[in-house]
Amino acid sequence: MKYSRTIVSLSPSATLQLSAKAKELKKSGRDIVSLTAGEPDFPTPDPIAEAGIRAIKEGKTGYTASTGITELKEAVAERYSIRRNISYTPENVVVSCGAKHNLANLIRSAVNPGDMVLLPRPYWVSYPEMVKASGGIPVIPEKGINAEEILIAADNGAVGLLINYPSNPSGYVPSEVEMKDIADAVADTEMWVISDDIYEDLVYVEGGVPHILDYRQELSERTAVVSGVSKTYAMTGWRIGYALANYEWSKLSGILQAHSTSNPCSISQWAALAAVEGKADKEKSEMYSSFRKRRDLICSLLSDVDNIEFDRPEGAFYVFPRLDAENDTARFCSELLEEEGLAVIPGSAFGAEGYIRLSFAASDDDIREGVTRFKGFLRRRYNT
Ligand SMILES: Cc1ncc(COP(=O)(O)O)c(C=O)c1O
Repeated sequence: MKYSRTIVSLSPSATLQLSAKAKELKKSGRDIVSLTAGEPDFPTPDPIAEAGIRAIKEGKTGYTASTGITELKEAVAERYSIRRNISYTPENVVVSCGAKHNLANLIRSAVNPGDMVLLPRPYWVSYPEMVKASGGIPVIPEKGINAEEILIAADNGAVGLLINYPSNPSGYVPSEVEMKDIADAVADTEMWVISDDIYEDLVYVEGGVPHILDYRQELSERTAVVSGVSKTYAMTGWRIGYALANYEWSKLSGILQAHSTSNPCSISQWAALAAVEGKADKEKSEMYSSFRKRRDLICSLLSDVDNIEFDRPEGAFYVFPRLDAENDTARFCSELLEEEGLAVIPGSAFGAEGYIRLSFAASDDDIREGVTRFKGFLRRRYNT
């Protein structure tokens, strides 16, 4: 049988593959420490879980409008109208099966075959594959995204830009000056923007993340904001994300969704509503405090490891050290897993060979044990 050349050209998700491999080894009885997780290690807060249970008991279990229940779209529109100081209505909102699905819908709705889309480096694993799956061409400058790269890409015909701050995999948060430059450069082009804000509430610097729409509000006409409840409310398995875009883009994205998945899970939408309405804000801030402490813990442990360099992450739950002497991190990570039972993700998955990603969405014990194994492995490898 012949398959789609486009789909055959896609790479599997290295992050999901490695997390699955670590789980499998653990199940088979091996002593594995996994610092691969892209999800909180907390249960969904009770007020949210209870809203889900109530939805089942009240029979809210049928199809909903394919773009989501009105109550949730209203709550999302209200939250982001306040947050971004832009007047959003429910018609700007599409609720999807996780932020990932929103991203795929928006990219698919904006990209024509051969269109170039500018991506940051390091990038989240799925961006290039999503662009390719839509027939587009990812353009990934060596040195990340800045005003100059945006203008060059636009001159070369790029139609869109995808940004993600705080970044997965690096936890990077741009400065206000940097973000203003990005916003000004985009305003000088006709490029659309997707701002993947899934980690927006996990920020450890004063003042939060500078947002492109804070500097150039008029860009809201061609900027889609994507976020969701997965990371902030420990709801990764519920699969609810949302996007806010102009009416046309939202409508197209909604049509695409209607012909593929229909609505996201009705029960999850009612649970997500409780989250967006602030019913679990206490639990949310407790989880935030834990991540913040774990960020400090892993950074202080890693500062004692030789042969690596890293920037202190300012958001999300990842740290992204550069290994001084490695240029095949996929192999490095597979040996680390085999020999030490420590699972981490190779930087090659994020377009950054020579780096590895360690998640600190793990218990203090696992973080301590993980860094001890990492340190021991490097010592033996380099005889230091
Ligand atoms: C940068 C980034 N965007 C989007 C997503 C997808 O989030 P969701 O689980 O809501 O689909 C993830 C999840 O790992 C992510 O890291």
